[in-house]
Amino acid sequence: MSAHKVLVLHGPNLNLLGMRQPEIYGHETLDDINNRLYEKAEANGWEIACRQSNHEGELIDAIQAARLDGTDLIVINPAAYSHTSVAILDALNVYEGRVIEVHLSNIHKREMFRHHSYISRRADGVIAGLGSQGYYAALDAPIATD
Ligand code: DQA
Repeated sequence: MSAHKVLVLHGPNLNLLGMRQPEIYGHETLDDINNRLYEKAEANGWEIACRQSNHEGELIDAIQAARLDGTDLIVINPAAYSHTSVAILDALNVYEGRVIEVHLSNIHKREMFRHHSYISRRADGVIAGLGSQGYYAALDAPIATD
């Protein structure tokens, strides 16, 4: 059994999943998604923590903590910060583990300002447009390379 330690980070407004533009983001709540992530991690013997914040600095603090606590995979949906945050990119650039960026919607099919993600400059993989399946696929990536 592998010994992955995974941090899942959800950015601003993702606490409103289920009621926030469900035609774009789906009907599942963040708890629904996190519960399935916990189940999947448990089935694989991984340690997993799921955190959501509406605050850029809290996301950065979590990334900095992950750098020091043996976390070997960060799955991050930076939400709107994808398109604005050099600070989150800088934090991820110091982190040495794997990074998978997830977006529920296909950001490339949407408004121009969503097409660019600062975080993609660091991400080892990017998943967009698969809804919540994207998070589960992100967890499958390290299983495949074990
Ligand atoms: C998002 C896409 C972003 O453009 C948006 O700001 C979000 C969610 C997604 O998961 O599709 O809040 O990251």
